[in-house]
Amino acid sequence: MTSGTTFTRQKALVDYDPNIIQTIEDDRPRIPVGLLSREEKDRLIERGFLGLYRWYVAKSQEKRNWNPDLSFDWRAFRKDHSPEVVRILEGFFAVEQYVPDYVTTLLRVIRKSHGRSHFHIRWGAEEERHAELWHNAVLFSGQRDGEWLRGYMGDLRANMWQLPWDDPIHMIFYTVFQERATQVNYLNLGVIARGKSDLEMFANDADPILDAACRTIAADEAAHYNFFLEGARLYMYYYPTKAIEAMSDVIKYFAMPAGNIIPNYDRFAELVHKAAIYGPREHAKDVVQVALKNLGVAGRKALENGIKRSRLVPDENGNLRETAVFEGIDFQFIQSAVQRIFGRIEGHERESGLWEVDPTPFVPNYA
Ligand SMILES: [Fe+2]
Ligand SMILES: [Fe+2]
Repeated sequence: MTSGTTFTRQKALVDYDPNIIQTIEDDRPRIPVGLLSREEKDRLIERGFLGLYRWYVAKSQEKRNWNPDLSFDWRAFRKDHSPEVVRILEGFFAVEQYVPDYVTTLLRVIRKSHGRSHFHIRWGAEEERHAELWHNAVLFSGQRDGEWLRGYMGDLRANMWQLPWDDPIHMIFYTVFQERATQVNYLNLGVIARGKSDLEMFANDADPILDAACRTIAADEAAHYNFFLEGARLYMYYYPTKAIEAMSDVIKYFAMPAGNIIPNYDRFAELVHKAAIYGPREHAKDVVQVALKNLGVAGRKALENGIKRSRLVPDENGNLRETAVFEGIDFQFIQSAVQRIFGRIEGHERESGLWEVDPTPFVPNYA
């Protein structure tokens, strides 16, 4: 009855003024409508990861093909660094020691994905060279010897790192925040190595070799961050509700890897905090805020509101819940970002000829 009345009234208005149709259209919230089946979305995410991985390897080999022994003049590394800098080097060495666990644990979860699993092995090889780089830095500091380092490594590896989450979506977001956090850590040690820290304790720590090491390793971490960020965008585009719920969980419970198993980690965490390398301020401002912006989310509040609204929608069909989620994220931003990912993949596939035999085109998920 009621809807019939409304319909008649609207019809009368339309008859009165044809422009009203346009006005109604303009006022209607832009609600993207999901077009694709679950199978098709999974297929596109997989193709996206594979294409990105192929693109990544080509770039990595071309631009970041460094060696932890030969790319730095280790003999010229300062032997008189402050005890604080040496403890920071030790801490970075410790975090990168769990690379076999970082690789094997997640590899089991993502082994069925060609793109993600092969990327993960490549990523592991780049993390392995970070472990070697910090190994050299500690050794050439002249304040620890090989015997000490081997003993320390034994203590570290007595414990095994466990996955903070055991599903691919949570882990893509975990790696986004973790890689960015690691990059921030190394960039800020670079500030000390350039003699630019305001802190008295680092007044005599300028060292061009350490600076070069920090820059090189931070460039790797930036590349890792970008890969995982693009992967996270694929999930946000094709599975927005699941993706933002996972992102929110990861932000809420985030901790740096291996902090719970490295002996005396609290002392290291306190030192990097005091050193203005990484603490709650850097984490909130340079990690979470930056990553959220790169993911089209206005801030933590917008993220929480999007999730809250999506939970108010009782329909379990998925698309309806997603319409509520879109209020928390900049959907256009995500769509353009995903289009750019596929554009980059297309560029790489055209260069190699893959495009002619098995192309990876963008397929929109929303109308
Ligand atoms: Fe690393
Ligand atoms: Fe990394």
